[in-house]
Amino acid sequence: MTDSRSAWDQDYISRGRLWGGNPALLPDVVAGASVLELGSGSGKTLHALMNRSCDITAIDFSKKAAEMSYRIITKYHAGDALVADARGLPFVNDAFGVVVASHVIGHMQYDDRVTIVSEAARVLQPDGRLFFVEFSVDDMRNGTGREVENATFQRGKGIITHYFTEPEVEALFSMLRKESVFSRHWKMRVRGRDLLRAEIGGIFSKSW
Ligand SMILES: C[S@@+](CC[C@H](N)C(=O)[O-])C[C@H]1O[C@@H](n2cnc3c(N)ncnc32)[C@H](O)[C@@H]1O
Repeated sequence: MTDSRSAWDQDYISRGRLWGGNPALLPDVVAGASVLELGSGSGKTLHALMNRSCDITAIDFSKKAAEMSYRIITKYHAGDALVADARGLPFVNDAFGVVVASHVIGHMQYDDRVTIVSEAARVLQPDGRLFFVEFSVDDMRNGTGREVENATFQRGKGIITHYFTEPEVEALFSMLRKESVFSRHWKMRVRGRDLLRAEIGGIFSKSW
């Protein structure tokens, strides 16, 4: 099992809140739903979920990230945040109506990606839905860093990022029913150059 927890902790301690703005892709969440966010980080997606009247549990294996998430959630009286590893979730089966996996599964190698998906499926209620988003192989950062596995690159202090294809996402979530899998491209302007960013999103349900 690979473990980049200390690299994440160091990043949050030295740089604080790492991501700003609003996520472009967000799940539809009905009021009152119990939502689990895996790897909530410094709270970009959490912030966006705050006005959706749902009961949120955020987990992150970085203590620093869990603290930042906890501050956001308690400010809005929206649920709880805890330190936990998504590869072994401390929740009973069928505990959540929605699981959000936004830019967390892509920070693992293949075996861990399979484990986290099976854990997410386990804690989903029978009529529950999972929302997924990650960078795709079209993203400008694909290929930079040291390749540790196919399309998986380590950069900086040890954080790895995997770049997905749509068929791969469908295969990874084959234990759930696919509602949709889609790609999104946009340009990011850096020092006068347009760079291509690319994500793949997916919505999956537990009921067939
Ligand atoms: C890109 S950041 C978080 C993004 C956040 N979900 C969002 O959408 O704003 C990825 C987070 O996943 C966490 N993470 C990585 N592997 C994890 C694991 N096995 N269990 C729990 N959290 C993990 C990292 O600590 C980091 O905070």
